[in-house]
Amino acid sequence: LRSIYGCTVDTESVRSIYRSRSNFSHKGDYGKSFLIGGSLSMCGALLLAVRASLRSGSGYTYAVGPDECRVVLQTAAPEAIFLDKDDFEADQVHQVFGIGPGMGTGAESLALLRHLLQNSCFPVVLDADALNLIGQNRELMELIPPMSILTPHPKEFDRLFGLHASSFARLDTALQIAKKNKIIVVVKGHRTQIVCPDGNIYYNLSGNAALAKAGSGDVLTGVITSLMAQNYDPIQAAVLGVWIHGRSAELVSLTKGIESVVASDIIEGLCLVYSELN
Ligand code: APR
Ligand code: MG
Repeated sequence: LRSIYGCTVDTESVRSIYRSRSNFSHKGDYGKSFLIGGSLSMCGALLLAVRASLRSGSGYTYAVGPDECRVVLQTAAPEAIFLDKDDFEADQVHQVFGIGPGMGTGAESLALLRHLLQNSCFPVVLDADALNLIGQNRELMELIPPMSILTPHPKEFDRLFGLHASSFARLDTALQIAKKNKIIVVVKGHRTQIVCPDGNIYYNLSGNAALAKAGSGDVLTGVITSLMAQNYDPIQAAVLGVWIHGRSAELVSLTKGIESVVASDIIEGLCLVYSELN
């Protein structure tokens, strides 16, 4: 990994991070990925993250959401375990969490986010409404566990860190924040940059405009959380996850056409990417 510090992320560098599975392994070797989010009108965002996690190798995938999401999650993702967020044990903090897709920014979401930031034993993946909540409650920024991964799109980035005139300006801010708060900032866009606390920046080279559709960010959150659950260190999980996500878009676009690709196709395309890597 050291050889690609400050460099571009391509097939070759990804191969140096990716670990193939032993024939003698079992699900306990691959960790548990917990995706937290969903709300009455946005169960789909949680579902996409959960299905992306299921396709990315973690031994178990859990969906934590409101009861309104239970039926859709258990129907559309039968391999996942659904936990009602109200029954979710407050002491269940020894897990790897991806928080935010479709979660909403109400008081209950805020309380759950605050609890997890304060108590999580591991770095967390923060996306979508988790980022919007941090933007509205700035003190949460200081509670983020070290080496956590933030995945803002440009608008979320500006809600968090103030208006920026250009993507260059965002990169500059991301670098300062990553160093100061010891977190990884995934600055999403056509060529997503992964900005690390050690000052290194990885420029992803995969992906295309098929990803410019609602839902594709939720897929990325599921992939990265699943990789973290498998014990990839957070920088590796972010670099590998962003590349795999983009590569999936490239491969499914070959047969579906960029306009027609939807986020669920990006999840299906993960199969093609992992078979390329194997
Ligand atoms: N080329 C390559 N990659 C792209 C391109 C492109 N032209 N456009 C988008 N992407 C990638 C981004 O890098 C990112 O990984 O697709 C993903 C889009 O993520 P989001 O912008 O977070 O989109 P998404 O979450 O699916 O949007 C749904 O949820 O996060 C909220 O407020 C957000 O309204 C939005 C909603
Ligand atoms: Mg998003």
